Amino acid sequence: MLENDIKEVLVSEEELKVAIKRLGQQLTEEYKDKEVVVVGILRGAALFMADIIREMDCYLEIDFMDVSSYGEDFVSSGEVKIVKDLDTRVEGRDFLIVEDIIDTGRTLNYLVELLHYRKAKSVKVVTLLDKPERRIIADLVPDFVGIQVPNEFVVGYGLDYKQKYRNLPYIGVLKPEVYTEPEE
Ligand code: XMP
Ligand code: MG
Repeated sequence: MLENDIKEVLVSEEELKVAIKRLGQQLTEEYKDKEVVVVGILRGAALFMADIIREMDCYLEIDFMDVSSYGEDFVSSGEVKIVKDLDTRVEGRDFLIVEDIIDTGRTLNYLVELLHYRKAKSVKVVTLLDKPERRIIADLVPDFVGIQVPNEFVVGYGLDYKQKYRNLPYIGVLKPEVYTEPEE
């Protein structure tokens, strides 16, 4: 089944749980006196979003954005198209963006600037995974990071390859032959 396609488990279920608990404590401390709007970026961050908000012991609202970047499968171009925008008023409010992974930083850089442009009071970023080696936007430093990963394409726990593998309970690297299979 699914796990036959995995070459290596990079972050186990247990390690994910520990990292999310730690992030939850940091975010509870950060937002205990504020009413933060937590924004999940679809679709990759959906699983992380569901878990991280349950570790935040503070008053919060949730919303989602769906963005697509015009790029190839593996690299985002920096041009971001908003597929689903926020339903929440932005001006004067505190925002926490929840991402699955930061790679070049282009997607997030665009979203942070957009929320500032709409006059958010504050915008912070929590990402489950960070690939700092690949960063192009140097001043995009996430405020809260779960786990740093090497420069490899990863799947699982929300992250996909061609929309599959999001339901793996851990983060893994696919076997090379999985990428070379002919298109259906
Ligand atoms: P940028 O380059 O804008 O990209 O920081 C962030 C988005 O790129 C996708 N991404 C990945 N998706 N495995 C994935 O499944 C990966 O290893 C990976 N690296 C980047 C992801 O959608 C993220 O939101
Ligand atoms: Mg994504």
